[in-house]
Amino acid sequence: MKLKNVTRLLLYAFVIACIAPSCVKEGPMGLTGGAGADGKDGKDANETCKICHTANNVDLIATQFEFSKHSYGEAAFEESGNTGCTPCHAQEAFKYVVKNKVPATFTLNATTGRWTNNYATVASDAYGEIGCSTCHSALHTTYGTADLAFTTVAPVPMTMWGGTKTIDLKADGGKSNLCVKCHQPRPFTSAINGGVQDYVAIAADPAGIMYDGTPESPNTTDKVRPSYRTHTHYGTAGAVYAGMGGVEFAGTLPYTNSAHTTAASCVDCHMGAMVGRSGGHTFSAIGKFDGCNVTGCHSTAITASNTTLWVNPRKEIKDLLNALATKLTIGGVDILNRNADGESNLWIGLTANNYDGYLNVYDPITNPTVQMYNSKSFKYVGNAPSSWSQEQKDYNATLPSLTLTNAQFGALINFQLCLRDYSLGIHNFAYTKALLTNSIAKL
Ligand code: HEC
Ligand code: HEC
Ligand code: HEC
Ligand code: HEC
Ligand code: HEC
Repeated sequence: MKLKNVTRLLLYAFVIACIAPSCVKEGPMGLTGGAGADGKDGKDANETCKICHTANNVDLIATQFEFSKHSYGEAAFEESGNTGCTPCHAQEAFKYVVKNKVPATFTLNATTGRWTNNYATVASDAYGEIGCSTCHSALHTTYGTADLAFTTVAPVPMTMWGGTKTIDLKADGGKSNLCVKCHQPRPFTSAINGGVQDYVAIAADPAGIMYDGTPESPNTTDKVRPSYRTHTHYGTAGAVYAGMGGVEFAGTLPYTNSAHTTAASCVDCHMGAMVGRSGGHTFSAIGKFDGCNVTGCHSTAITASNTTLWVNPRKEIKDLLNALATKLTIGGVDILNRNADGESNLWIGLTANNYDGYLNVYDPITNPTVQMYNSKSFKYVGNAPSSWSQEQKDYNATLPSLTLTNAQFGALINFQLCLRDYSLGIHNFAYTKALLTNSIAKL
């Protein structure tokens, strides 16, 4: 048994001992089930504990949760202390931004002329592994079922657009909004002034220039200075699901949504019954099809071999991702980064060349394997960091410069979005197909 569990058991025993009837009546001792009014007996707190503390409830859910990346993922530890990252990665930070209604806006600093992102927690609340009370933040306040209420199910102003657009997934009481509060892209900011990129302007002017290949100083022209880490972040599923977050180039396909967007919720496919190591509080949908067949949804049972509803649509999106990647090249060099390492590439196998959504820009420090999987990469923009060896600096100087039109930049955002959505179109087939098809046509 882990030490954590032993401590918990001891604490539990202690608490139970303390809420024996005498304890309850004597208050002010902590965990009572509500003191009895005017000398009448208090409610038996021990009974209310059993609403949750039974082998088939909290105990079982805690066991499932160990298989959730929310629990075993390491990002909460790695990003601890970072006030901008932790609102989605750490419990106390998430609770802080929800409780204080921290807006997803940007503010212009008149002195520097640059925009800053307001969506952040404070240094004293920038920590905490994701756990039960991240999502059920009222736990142990009344010791009744009300304690299971969600931290938030409110509509989510999107951080990627400085809060000017909002996702509101109403199905299932808005439970999906809880997920989307974190599972949304991060803002793509302008290299000129730190403001959010204008996706409408990018889509309207495909021939426009994002980056001309020569970094000027001071920067008044480069809307982006492409680097290995120029990306829309990992949590794209929520935005794709809602049919938002892409650069919507005009084209043959309209931007509509699959029925899932309004009819289903994240919980339907990702929670429910356990199947293998998926479902329930593991939150994973991998290999889980029972959610497709819940009442009111697909009437014929869907399995992994169903062609019309699983195999074919997923292949179609995979083919479109591959076709788009082929067009995102300059002089035969990939703009997108290849990464055949299944540890660091969460999307291994989803494309023929194992793209991971990062850019193929030389960076021996943050992407040491760049040369292993990409025959050639693009030059690092700007002065090479002092940590590079002379040999690395010399090599960088021989590489070609990456230039980006609006069409290329928009298309690579759409590629990242649809790859990292992970579901190959299952979340929102219509939107995914339109983004990829119309992007290909623009290149
Ligand atoms: C609404 C559901 C609910 C009710 C009611 C409830 N608990 Fe809990 N309790 C939880 C959850 C969830 C956890 C966290 C389990 C985990 O992390 O494995 C927990 C954990 C605990 C822990 C371990 C300490 C910790 O934080 O890990 C103790 C002790 C405990 N509860 C005591 C009680 C007692 C005593 C009562 C009744 C007075 C009670 N609980 C009522 C849901 C509940
Ligand atoms: C507090 C923010 C937050 C909330 C709320 C949240 N998630 Fe997550 N989720 C994350 C983070 C962060 C990770 C990655 C953790 C890591 O790798 O350390 C993650 C990982 C996952 C994964 C695993 C992905 C993978 O790469 O294997 C799934 C599936 C998932 N979440 C589904 C959900 C669902 C469904 C909901 C709503 C019921 C939800 N999440 C709510 C932040 C959140
Ligand atoms: C708007 C919410 C949000 C913010 C802000 C955010 N992240 Fe994330 N991040 C996520 C989600 C959600 C995932 C998991 C998505 C998935 O696996 O599908 C994730 C995944 C990651 C991962 C991958 C973990 C793994 O499993 O390999 C890393 C690393 C990471 N984030 C780092 C950061 C850093 C560093 C910052 C701040 C600069 C940051 N994140 C800010 C939501 C966010
Ligand atoms: C990422 C958010 C998230 C985290 C973390 C989380 N839960 Fe939940 N929990 C949910 C959602 C969403 C539901 C509703 C599921 C449904 O509607 O089927 C739920 C439902 C429940 C229920 C109601 C019974 C049920 O199965 O429907 C209990 C009890 C519960 N959670 C306990 C826990 C415990 C214990 C932990 C920690 C080990 C935990 N939760 C962690 C999101 C979360
Ligand atoms: C219609 C069913 C369905 C709904 C609804 C759904 N998903 Fe998924 N999700 C899937 C499928 C299918 C996969 C891919 C599983 C596989 O590859 O086997 C997936 C994969 C994922 C993954 C990565 C892998 C993992 O461990 O599951 C994340 C993260 C995710 N979805 C988040 C969400 C979020 C957030 C929502 C709600 C906004 C959502 N999903 C709604 C079906 C669904």
